[in-house]
Amino acid sequence: MDVLTAIHTRHSIGKVKPDPVPRAVIEKLLLAAVQAPNHHKVRPWRFVVLSGAARQRLGEVMAASQRSRKPDLPPEADEKVRALPLRAPVIIAVGVDRPTDPRVLEIENVSAVAAAIQNLLLTAHAEGLGAIWRTGEWAYDPQVKKFLGFEPEQHLLGFIYLGYPEVVTEHPPRPGFEDRTVWMEE
Ligand SMILES: Cc1cc2nc3c(=O)[nH]c(=O)nc-3n(C[C@H](O)[C@H](O)[C@H](O)COP(=O)(O)O)c2cc1C
Repeated sequence: MDVLTAIHTRHSIGKVKPDPVPRAVIEKLLLAAVQAPNHHKVRPWRFVVLSGAARQRLGEVMAASQRSRKPDLPPEADEKVRALPLRAPVIIAVGVDRPTDPRVLEIENVSAVAAAIQNLLLTAHAEGLGAIWRTGEWAYDPQVKKFLGFEPEQHLLGFIYLGYPEVVTEHPPRPGFEDRTVWMEE
């Protein structure tokens, strides 16, 4: 698939089959991700690939965290949260390194990692995978970050849920660029 076709036909797909995704395919996505531009060549991306029982462990952490923050929720709420990471056979959590060099700005590291995620999403699409970038309260949760090996101050840009599509959904029409663009020619 050429790059323009991938860009114009990619859309989020949340309903995927439980079938495993071969490691070689996941590695192809990660290799595409790290081709993104990054200022000062700091390679600020960090990926945590979760599959199998690791997703259950993530669900446990999410439920425990929710319970400590919202103790009045009914017990069913824990069950619901525990099941969230089981929606796809693979989840890639994507974090951002904090700058250590004063020349490096955190917003630039975040921008580079967002570009890496888009590379990953486009490659997933070209490989016939369904993918969706999810955040929710969990991406900002210190307990979830700790489980993934991130510091509380580190940005976790989200979770990329991946799997082979259950149904291939219609590509939604997208608004254009015109109302978001100003041309400055003089
Ligand atoms: C930073 C970010 C966070 C997102 N978080 C969620 C989320 O928590 N749940 C969700 O269903 N979609 C999430 N999305 C996906 C968007 O809902 C989706 O990209 C948007 O609806 C446009 O659809 P498209 O990806 O098919 O173009 C997120 C997207 C971005 C960029």
